[in-house]
Amino acid sequence: MADVQKVSSGIPGLDDLIEGGFWPKSTVVILGSSGTGKSTFAIQFLMEGIEQGEQALYVTLEEPPEQIMREADLMGFDMRKYYEKSLFFIHLKGRNFKKMIEEQLPQLVKARADYNIATRVVIDPMTPVIWATADKLEQRELIGKLFYTLKELGVVLCTVEEHAKPGETVGEDVLLPIYLSDGAVHLEYYPIGGAFNRTLKLLKMRGVHHGEGVYPYLFARGVGIVVRASPTHIPEEQSRSHIKTFDEAIKTAEAMKAPARVIDRIKKMQKHWDYDYSPEEALQILFSSYGLKRGG
Ligand SMILES: Nc1ncnc2c1ncn2[C@@H]1O[C@H](COP(=O)(O)OP(=O)(O)OP(=O)(O)O)[C@@H](O)[C@H]1O
Ligand SMILES: [Mg+2]
Repeated sequence: MADVQKVSSGIPGLDDLIEGGFWPKSTVVILGSSGTGKSTFAIQFLMEGIEQGEQALYVTLEEPPEQIMREADLMGFDMRKYYEKSLFFIHLKGRNFKKMIEEQLPQLVKARADYNIATRVVIDPMTPVIWATADKLEQRELIGKLFYTLKELGVVLCTVEEHAKPGETVGEDVLLPIYLSDGAVHLEYYPIGGAFNRTLKLLKMRGVHHGEGVYPYLFARGVGIVVRASPTHIPEEQSRSHIKTFDEAIKTAEAMKAPARVIDRIKKMQKHWDYDYSPEEALQILFSSYGLKRGG
């Protein structure tokens, strides 16, 4: 298994916690209450692949593609550029999506799988599948079928809404998808203000010696979620203006011949950084997640 290429998550800081990324053709559940950043996580994961020439499949049960792309745009992700070129949507709308999961989806996936193109799949949100029936056995069959079918294409990442409050144990309604998937990531939000008031925890990750801590994360528009996997060494004074910090980061990235998409992300981040805290730490995590060593 050692020479199997891991699939990068696209979340700066996270790959360090999961030995480099997700296993190919594995299923991962992103769990969290409303607004914790599940969709952001999902979009980031897809964009990471798309920008590297992979394809992306977005399975949606609630919002239409147009709305998803509009919201992504507000977060700094230009999905439209890839729409129906390397980014495809399946909108399982209406009441008959059970039938779609059982019949149409397998056909569709089979047709795609024959091309053998690296693909990332997102199901966001998967909650309606769970709610489609109260019967546990049927839920299990539906989720199992969905995972089994889509896994053929590549890593399947799905989001599940939970209703427990921060710090409470995971609710019973979300145990099934956790149980059926290879990995589970839990996002929590403590509305107390400040930089890293959101935390990420890995509930499981099969075949991975994963980090076992509670890791703070923040949002940076243009980049998305940034996870503090370990205490970060911040190279310089924090008191400088943020503009200068970004300008220098961009210069450094250019000098290091960082990929254009990484520089682009920093520029977007700069454009939108309206927090009163320094972007140093987020930048530092971003740099190291792309294997770039700076300062210190
Ligand atoms: N750049 C940003 N800076 C601050 N907060 C942000 C940023 N981007 C997103 N957010 C916050 O993240 C939340 C939305 O994230 P997202 O849609 O990914 O969450 P979600 O878990 O999918 O929510 P839902 O359960 O409603 O689908 C919003 O509350 C928004 O305020
Ligand atoms: Mg969402």
